[in-house]
Amino acid sequence: MLPISPVPLLFLLLLALQSVWSSTPQEPKVQDSPQPEISSLHLPTWSLGLQLYRSLRTDGSKTNTFISPLLLANSLLAVGGGANGSTAGQFHDLLRITKNEKAVGEALTRALKSVFEANGTSYTLHSSSALFSKQAPELEKSFLEKLQTHFGLQHVALEDAQKQTDMEKLQSWAKSGMDGEETAALEQALETKPGAMILASALHFKGFWDRGFYHENQDLRSFLGTKYTKVPMMHRSGVYRHYEDMENMVQVLELGLWEGKASMVLLLPFHVERLARLDRLLTLDQVEKWLGKLNSTSMALSLPRAKMSSMVNLQKQLATLGLVDAWNETSADFSSASSMGRGKLHLGAMLHWTSLELAPESGSIDDMHEDEEVEKPKIFYADHSFIILVRDNSTGALLMIGALDHTDGPAIHDEL
Ligand SMILES: *[C@@H]1O[C@H](CO)[C@@H](O)[C@H](O)[C@H]1NC(C)=O
Ligand SMILES: *[C@@H]1O[C@H](CO)[C@@H](O)[C@H](O)[C@H]1NC(C)=O
Ligand SMILES: *[C@@H]1O[C@H](CO)[C@@H](O)[C@H](O)[C@H]1NC(C)=O
Ligand SMILES: *[C@@H]1O[C@H](CO)[C@@H](O)[C@H](O)[C@H]1NC(C)=O
Ligand SMILES: *[C@@H]1O[C@H](CO)[C@@H](O)[C@H](O)[C@H]1NC(C)=O
Repeated sequence: MLPISPVPLLFLLLLALQSVWSSTPQEPKVQDSPQPEISSLHLPTWSLGLQLYRSLRTDGSKTNTFISPLLLANSLLAVGGGANGSTAGQFHDLLRITKNEKAVGEALTRALKSVFEANGTSYTLHSSSALFSKQAPELEKSFLEKLQTHFGLQHVALEDAQKQTDMEKLQSWAKSGMDGEETAALEQALETKPGAMILASALHFKGFWDRGFYHENQDLRSFLGTKYTKVPMMHRSGVYRHYEDMENMVQVLELGLWEGKASMVLLLPFHVERLARLDRLLTLDQVEKWLGKLNSTSMALSLPRAKMSSMVNLQKQLATLGLVDAWNETSADFSSASSMGRGKLHLGAMLHWTSLELAPESGSIDDMHEDEEVEKPKIFYADHSFIILVRDNSTGALLMIGALDHTDGPAIHDEL
């Protein structure tokens, strides 16, 4: 079977930037503050990302769940552009586009551009997004063009094949979009009816710290997650932005990435526990409060060296958040995507693959690990489950959010 090679998104987006929103006479005001945490939080990436994350985690059945709210918002905006009537209205509500679709679109395009420009500096990122259509009526040229040039989504037609073959095709597409990373498999077989559109996105992320960590591969410690495993820990001391929320019993820590183009925020409960309690706290208000209280603190950090892979179909969660009509063959209205699509063209799935790597390296090749002299450091010892957020520094957009529930090292038995 032929893998479908992903078109470099950056290229498409650069094309997009020249044309897409250039029809607006005046640019909306851009907050150019160096620490844009509060002002830019209201990008749809945050509200959508936090809601989807909580929704994915409610029943506790999924572990090591990671999503990229930025990629998801971009894909939803792209395909929502093909919708009409109440179907379109539900896309707009989901993305908090009340009156101003252009402003939201511009903010997302700016954030994606900023994220791709930081690729190779603060992190390496491989990503790909596509719209697959299954035996669908012909899609409008203008819709496909906008999809590709403005949003960086490829379009791939799936022929009339066995379900298994569709899934294999999607899986291999995801793998190649993630630069060959092992992709997690879908739990349930995909039911795709004729006329189904499948939104797919895949992303692999590896950050480089502004200051590297010390580690020894032989130095295995216990990680007390939803399963107990052995994992190499990496260490570093220095001054970091940190906040200790005594009431909610959680430490909040911000780690800058190389050259400051992005940062990672970790939320670590004081004690060993499942993340369910913390998951429920993750509202926009609460996260804003935490980020606003970060303060330079002397820290001694220990993090697991780990890699998490996740694969989700977000259909159920999106429906819970109000995107209802798009999935329904009879009521979905994608008449802007295809004039012949009424009663046929509908959304069949939204598949999302991610992988995130926590490694010791900084962005400098000749990085010599040097601990800073700090007095009486606060201890941040991440040997149990925690939450990770990755945000773009210049726009404040939420690139990733996820939970590290367990690591994949060798299992250990409860020693008690
Ligand atoms: C769908 O919506 C677009 C944009 O809002 C509009 O131009 C078009 O006429 C609508 N098409 C139908 C069939 O209602
Ligand atoms: C990021 O950079 C790598 C290599 O430098 C490249 O292979 C990859 O396609 C880039 N990612 C994106 C999303 O453009
Ligand atoms: C974000 O960028 C600003 C301006 O370049 C810089 O002052 C700040 O330290 C950066 N934030 C992080 C977390 O690196
Ligand atoms: C940061 O800490 C300093 C000194 O402890 C304190 O004066 C200041 O109010 C703190 N800032 C925030 C935002 O909590
Ligand atoms: C799909 O929409 C039709 C018409 O609105 C409705 O009668 C039907 O119950 C819907 N189907 C599902 C599965 O929600």
